[in-house]
Amino acid sequence: MKICIIGSGYVGLVSGACFADVGHNVICVDNNAKKVEQLVQGKVPIYEPGLEELIHRNVAAHRLHFTTSTEEGVDKSDVVFIAVPTPPQPDGSVDLSYIEKVAREISVVLKPGQYRVIVDKSTVPVKTGEKVADTIRRYNKTGADFDVVSNPEFLREGCAVADLMKPDRIVIGSNSERAIALMQKIYEPFMSPVLVTDINSAELIKHAANSFLALKISYINAVARICEASGADVEKVADGIGSDRRIGRNFLNAGIGYGGSCFPKDIAAFIAISEDLGVPFTLLKEVEKINRTQRERFIAKIRESLWVLKDKKIAVWGLTFKPDTDDVRSSVAIDVVRDLLAEGAQVSVYDPKGMEKAVEFKLVDGARLAKSPLDAAEGAEALIVATEWKEFTTVDLSDLMKVMHTPLIFDGRNIMDPNTVRAAGFKYTSIGRS
Ligand code: UGA
Repeated sequence: MKICIIGSGYVGLVSGACFADVGHNVICVDNNAKKVEQLVQGKVPIYEPGLEELIHRNVAAHRLHFTTSTEEGVDKSDVVFIAVPTPPQPDGSVDLSYIEKVAREISVVLKPGQYRVIVDKSTVPVKTGEKVADTIRRYNKTGADFDVVSNPEFLREGCAVADLMKPDRIVIGSNSERAIALMQKIYEPFMSPVLVTDINSAELIKHAANSFLALKISYINAVARICEASGADVEKVADGIGSDRRIGRNFLNAGIGYGGSCFPKDIAAFIAISEDLGVPFTLLKEVEKINRTQRERFIAKIRESLWVLKDKKIAVWGLTFKPDTDDVRSSVAIDVVRDLLAEGAQVSVYDPKGMEKAVEFKLVDGARLAKSPLDAAEGAEALIVATEWKEFTTVDLSDLMKVMHTPLIFDGRNIMDPNTVRAAGFKYTSIGRS
């Protein structure tokens, strides 16, 4: 199949590389000429395990191309995916201006006699597909033949390639048999379950899925508070409830809250969408509140132990919103660093992949940038674990004890075993475990 993907961000780039790898001919379009130039030269702008190799292999096989021209992409393809950002607005609702702009750009390059399927892969509010179709119809003066499909993406950062290659399900939302048949052909090589729905249901599935996962995290974080108050262990409680197959153990890891470029934005969007439709989803407001206060409670615990945070030397391990990514957008770890800096603490930070982007976006100005976990902990009066990188679990505890000034650990991701750490002489505080 000949495929065009408009928007070479996370979703667009990974989708393009995976579609090419299963044998399709893919053109990725991006309006950022510098990014396109870099991609042509084989430089990949994001860190994602396996992605660089995939891109190199498929560029070399002439199945993956990059351009700044929407016209070229649409002209040479049967199916055109839209994968541009849908950022939040200050009130939580979704800014759809990039989608609208792309719809107009596509409309003016569609030619008579050329059938095209326009697929929305970006996360969008329900009913956006209808608006995309209206917009294309309004701006296209040639009566072009096209259908609009919703095909939400469920990949996770850090394992995006694996998620895309072997998805739990592929959702195809459309009312057109012809469009559905083409979409099924694209996804045939992935050999995964396909769910065909109407376009509105497909759009809703994405927001409902992310909100449910966020709800699961906030649920276990609320349970963690009860564990702390009662002397129970949240890990054991999560194992106990998670082994019921109806509940499942995934996404029941208590911590300092969820972050990233998806959950905070999508939950706020779903709240705004529900209010817009006159059916306010108030449960999600509580999910947001638990998430926000989870970090505040964590900082309060540190303050309580150290008494005064001003001028205290504090090491923070982790800046990314989760491990195996360099993404620091809406990261709770960054918020923790900023909270400590705001209280006058002397913070040193270390992250295996996130340092560069944190510095580039000026997110940790005022903090010392360390070269390793032990370097960060040098002279520290407390150590905070803010992201669950595997590297942090391999640090030798006796080495850590030697470099720290006072041996206090606040583990915001429960990556250490309380008995082991305490036996090594540390005062250890984690989430939902006494
Ligand atoms: C999330 C969804 O998992 C994907 O299915 C979806 O496609 C994506 O959003 C999106 O909408 O684009 P992602 O944001 O990459 O993926 O990361 P997750 O693995 O879901 O983690 C999100 C946050 O939840 C992280 O901050 C993580 O630390 C936190 N988390 C996750 C917990 O605190 N506890 C858990 O048990 C699991």
